[in-house]
Amino acid sequence: MTEKQDIIEKAKQKAWEFFKGTDPAHDYWHTHRVAVWAVELAEEEGADVYICELTAWLHDLADKKLNHSEAEAINHVKDWLQTYLEDDKEIEQIIDIIKTMSYGNGDNSSMSTLEGKIVQDADRLDAIGAIGIARAFAYAGAIGEQLHIPASPDQEKRHTAIEHFYDKLLRLKSLMNTNTAIDIANKRQRYMVSYLEQFYSEWEGKL
Ligand code: ADP
Ligand code: NI
Repeated sequence: MTEKQDIIEKAKQKAWEFFKGTDPAHDYWHTHRVAVWAVELAEEEGADVYICELTAWLHDLADKKLNHSEAEAINHVKDWLQTYLEDDKEIEQIIDIIKTMSYGNGDNSSMSTLEGKIVQDADRLDAIGAIGIARAFAYAGAIGEQLHIPASPDQEKRHTAIEHFYDKLLRLKSLMNTNTAIDIANKRQRYMVSYLEQFYSEWEGKL
């Protein structure tokens, strides 16, 4: 095993330990899928595959929903990187990507490096398509939201999983950075639109 492969294995192990007991919308397997897509996109786009994959494995360790303090969590990731990486520039780049992705900068934060754009795209791809739909319903369930409320008898306004499609899922397509991710996002968008049509038809007793 090369030194780089060994560091990737250690990062996987770190993610596995970290995500024990988290909800299915934020778990080890989300990180796993992001790493798979980070490699795929990096190869297609000619980016540094190792930096993209390593950052993907670490990208949610400092997520604000999963930590008491984001700043502390970022320092922890930095300490971890300093144990295994010698190049300070690489460490800075990885930390910069993770911070920009996880520091509540919203969905429009622009990434300064190609590797950052790729990891952000890989993370966003996992929020759309069949898996994105599954994650949205899982997350909605975890926070006590309902599937859908077309018009409640008392006009009560509560956020639902279906509303999340309009708040986020259907918007992600136009926020992709790389051409490879744009192509995949277009396919997943069509799938989500057809999913919604089926959902409404079933809801209304038409199919
Ligand atoms: P990310 O991990 O990509 O930063 P979030 O932490 O905001 O995204 O959300 C994790 C997952 O849960 C995503 O798939 C997202 O679409 C979904 N999600 C976030 N907020 C809601 C919500 N209010 N209702 C349903 N799904 C949600
Ligand atoms: Ni993520």
